[in-house]
Amino acid sequence: METRAKIPATVIVIFGAAGDLTWRKLMPALYNLYLGKRMPDRFMMLGVAHTDISLDDFQRHLREGIDQFSRSGKAKPDDWDDFKKHLSYQKGDFNDDATYTGLKQQIDKIEKDWGEPVNRVYYMAVPPAFFESIAVRVGKNGLCKNKQLARIVVEKPFGHDIESARHLNNLLHELFDESQIYRIDHYLGKETVQNILAFRFANAMFEPIWNRNYIDHVQITVAEQIGIENRGNYYETAGALRDMIQNHLLQLLCLVAMEPTASFKADEIRNKKVDVLNALRKITPEQVHEYAVRGQYGEGWVEGKHVKGYRQEQDVSKTSNVDTFAAVKFFIDNWRWQDVPFYLRSGKRMAETISVITIQFKQVPHRSFPVESTENWQPNKLVLNIQPHMGIQLRFQAKIPGVKMLLNPVDMVFDYVDSYPAGSPEAYETLLLDIFEGDTTLFMRSDQVEAAWNVLMPILDTWQANTSPNFPNYAAGTYGPEDAEALIAKDGHNWMVIPLETENNGRKK
Ligand code: BG6
Repeated sequence: METRAKIPATVIVIFGAAGDLTWRKLMPALYNLYLGKRMPDRFMMLGVAHTDISLDDFQRHLREGIDQFSRSGKAKPDDWDDFKKHLSYQKGDFNDDATYTGLKQQIDKIEKDWGEPVNRVYYMAVPPAFFESIAVRVGKNGLCKNKQLARIVVEKPFGHDIESARHLNNLLHELFDESQIYRIDHYLGKETVQNILAFRFANAMFEPIWNRNYIDHVQITVAEQIGIENRGNYYETAGALRDMIQNHLLQLLCLVAMEPTASFKADEIRNKKVDVLNALRKITPEQVHEYAVRGQYGEGWVEGKHVKGYRQEQDVSKTSNVDTFAAVKFFIDNWRWQDVPFYLRSGKRMAETISVITIQFKQVPHRSFPVESTENWQPNKLVLNIQPHMGIQLRFQAKIPGVKMLLNPVDMVFDYVDSYPAGSPEAYETLLLDIFEGDTTLFMRSDQVEAAWNVLMPILDTWQANTSPNFPNYAAGTYGPEDAEALIAKDGHNWMVIPLETENNGRKK
């Protein structure tokens, strides 16, 4: 049985309460925590946004989001009637101090009425242009005075480059303790991502071979079939390298590559991750073309439907130079990983939606079997399936039944759905609960964010300075540009996507 300490009474203020993130992710997550009896006994969500909307309409709007996106399906009337008592709304201008003094009065009153100290969580579910303005006003209007009880949550993107990330960190540090700041990377809340640590450090058999002596290379693919949807304005300032590699993929790399910790303390885990980021070999501007590939999708076909190219999307320039695909080869300069390549790639409008980490082991030192028996020989592979299929498979050679010694690769599989049919919480459920409980383990520390930007700056600067003459260079519905194949092929490898093949995920052949 899981033991979690009782969470103190909590007020969560969501700036951007009428926005998409609140609608699709935060409210369904809060609702499921509530259904699972995970919410504090006393809690209140105070939504703040510019929108002129009555409390009834606001609640109705949130319910629609829950009906559409909650993993537990549509809200049942009784549950909803009870839950909605915890939802309140305040129209407010994020740039106006009056919004914050109003909030402070409300929270102080709630605390008085409840007769106990109240956790205050300020969640910035807003575009980054508002981060500074909101954080400064929360700080200067005294909403975050109690360092034990008050927390501020910053959504990604955290900065646009190293300078802006540093600026934001400095500003936040003037107003809050690092322990009060929760920088979200929602990948860290995913069940399968958290399981990487369990897999590596709760088992004795993998860690001894988890190094350059046994591992040939590592691949991390996060592919999405969706395009940029209605986020053209944001995406034109971001691109795949900033949007995905700087945060989600580098965090996955850290979890695969980090050293074991002595305990499960937040800072110990975060220290080990920063060590990995700091050990990533610096790519010089002259080397960028050898180590990194960018792509942009043109029109094409996804699941039998014709889709537009990136430059035809809403709010996108017809001559945009923005990358919708990025692939990078990294090396980690330390004893464990010297000379083991880590290939990372991520893109929009790719052939399938899949996030997978493949650890390819080295060939056996000597093949003692006759040549004809080893036609299908493959080095061992360990595949960590992050999503949509969740599980782990280990691929090894086995004898094909029969009178001859013939070998074929087979899989040993752990499938989450087989083993845990009850399902897993969404990433935002885990992260929100951690915020309420004051656990920063799954959040980005300031030095982590800056180290990740540092690694990527030469690539970002080089790409910014040189427009790509061949954009668009991959058709929607493919696996990205040919150059990405070349990036890995020149080392004698190829990109692998090995999906889980079990009864439950419907992929069994
Ligand atoms: C976000 C990116 O951080 O992650 C999006 O901004 C991307 O562009 C999304 O689509 C992917 O998240 P998930 O959980 O769907 O893999």
